[in-house]
Amino acid sequence: MGDIAVVGVLGAGQMGGGIAQVIAASGLQVKLADMDLATSERGKVAIAGRLEKQVQRGRLSAEDCESLLERIVPVAAIADFADVDMAIEAASENFELKQKLFQQLDAVCKPEAILASNTSSISITLMAAATSRPDRFIGMHFFNPVPAMKLVEVIRGLATSEETYTATKSLAELAGKEVVSCEDKAGFVVNRLLLPFLNEACFTLEEGVSTIEDIDKAVNLGLNHPMGPFALADFIGLDTCLAIMEVLHKELGEDKYRPAPLLRKYVAAGWLGKKSGRGFYEY
Ligand SMILES: NC(=O)c1ccc[n+]([C@@H]2O[C@H](COP(=O)([O-])OP(=O)(O)OC[C@H]3O[C@@H](n4cnc5c(N)ncnc54)[C@H](O)[C@@H]3O)[C@@H](O)[C@H]2O)c1
Repeated sequence: MGDIAVVGVLGAGQMGGGIAQVIAASGLQVKLADMDLATSERGKVAIAGRLEKQVQRGRLSAEDCESLLERIVPVAAIADFADVDMAIEAASENFELKQKLFQQLDAVCKPEAILASNTSSISITLMAAATSRPDRFIGMHFFNPVPAMKLVEVIRGLATSEETYTATKSLAELAGKEVVSCEDKAGFVVNRLLLPFLNEACFTLEEGVSTIEDIDKAVNLGLNHPMGPFALADFIGLDTCLAIMEVLHKELGEDKYRPAPLLRKYVAAGWLGKKSGRGFYEY
């Protein structure tokens, strides 16, 4: 993989942890940052916990597990990314936050380093404009859970160079993923199709068409989807689902993307899905 040897992953939550894991598994060095060192370290502990299960199931050797974990170094702040060849941002889905983080990354990372965002919905071109290197800025959208999901959507901003696209595609392939190229339009491909579906499930529930369990069962058995919409929304995180719907609504400007009031209500209550212990289901 050309010149990328050290990758900085910013955000050690469910996506950042998964991204750090698959990149370290490909043999590269990873620096993992979050709000502070303690949060980054917690992110690494979560990765270790998942890998430990793989070892117990005989899918990963104890030696490979150990060397993979050695390649992931939790760090305290973006200031520790001075030597990374590429930084992948996987912090919370909020434009102002990401804009601020990319300004900091731009100031700290070496000029040739590529900056990538794992955003689900925010414009790559808009974030790139917050940096001095829009040609070395790109969208790299992984899917959840990252170690299991084969797809990465690679999204070019208006100014993204061909070299940046090629290097990013190669990194994704090195990490065992298949790449689909997308234009910088809200939701890209998968979320443009998926989120209105999950949102419509909320309207269907709100209108009393059926229950949570039966809507999930209908999609499970009637469409052969491995997960029903409510189980999937809980898994993604209801706050993330709402944030994506808000972007689709604002950017694409059509009523069909209006977030369901029920989805807003769950998020307002702090019922964010699996990660908070309660969403449409209790965990
Ligand atoms: N959940 C999914 O299914 C999914 C899928 C694809 C992409 N994404 C995208 O990935 C990103 C992260 O989502 P997630 O599900 O991992 O969320 P998460 O809540 O699990 O993780 C977000 C992390 O960002 C950290 N963070 C917040 N502010 C920060 C700051 N100022 N500095 C450093 N770190 C900070 C949080 O502490 C947290 O660890 C979002 O942009 C989301 O849209 C999510």
